Amino acid sequence: MSDNNNDNKTKLHLEEGEDKILLDHSYDGIQELDNPLPSWWKFTFYGGFAFAFFYFILFQIMGAPTLREEFKKEYAVIEELQEKFNKANGVFDEVKYLAILKDDGVKKGQVVFETNCIPCHKEKGIGDIGPNLTDEYWINSKGTPATNFPVVFNGVPEKGMPTWSASLSNEEIYQVVSYVQTLHNTHQPGGKAPQGNKVE
Ligand code: HEC
Repeated sequence: MSDNNNDNKTKLHLEEGEDKILLDHSYDGIQELDNPLPSWWKFTFYGGFAFAFFYFILFQIMGAPTLREEFKKEYAVIEELQEKFNKANGVFDEVKYLAILKDDGVKKGQVVFETNCIPCHKEKGIGDIGPNLTDEYWINSKGTPATNFPVVFNGVPEKGMPTWSASLSNEEIYQVVSYVQTLHNTHQPGGKAPQGNKVE
């Protein structure tokens, strides 16, 4: 190994013109050519600037919606469709139910009950034409809001329970279901004999 550059240079096999781009230094006898960067590399590099510039203008200056915002928008459409579907088909929506409960649902539900349900279920739901709603026996449901909702929504027309979605709004059905919930297991005196299956 030699420290002498000139000695090394003489031993190099340079192609035509390469002596012009040969750098002057030598690292332990290794020398470099100062080749220009390949054009594909430069294209990618400068392309990166153009790309960043374009998106900077688009998002920071023109205020285009970000992916997150686009997702939120599309998701809101899906949620709206889902809500419409639930509404039209009597699917119980727990979130909606809890919101109704918070908004004086039971109190409003009592009014709905006293206006519409008393002819068959009597005061406090002790039952007459319709079954007793104050015991732990249920014919069509399990006594929970989720299982009572579709019964009230769709009714049991062949057994004399009207289809309430025809005359009450969804809000009113949620409200009256929340009121029925407060009657459950209160065992009012003079109630109709149990019907259906016992639900613990
Ligand atoms: C015209 C009479 C009538 C009216 C009015 C009526 N119901 Fe009923 N309801 C019934 C009958 C009959 C049944 C039992 C259906 C069966 O045997 O499957 C019933 C069943 C139910 C059940 C299910 C009970 C169970 O054991 O499965 C609920 C809950 C209920 N009604 C709530 C209501 C509510 C709330 C209203 C008022 C919005 C109402 N009903 C109005 C006749 C009525």
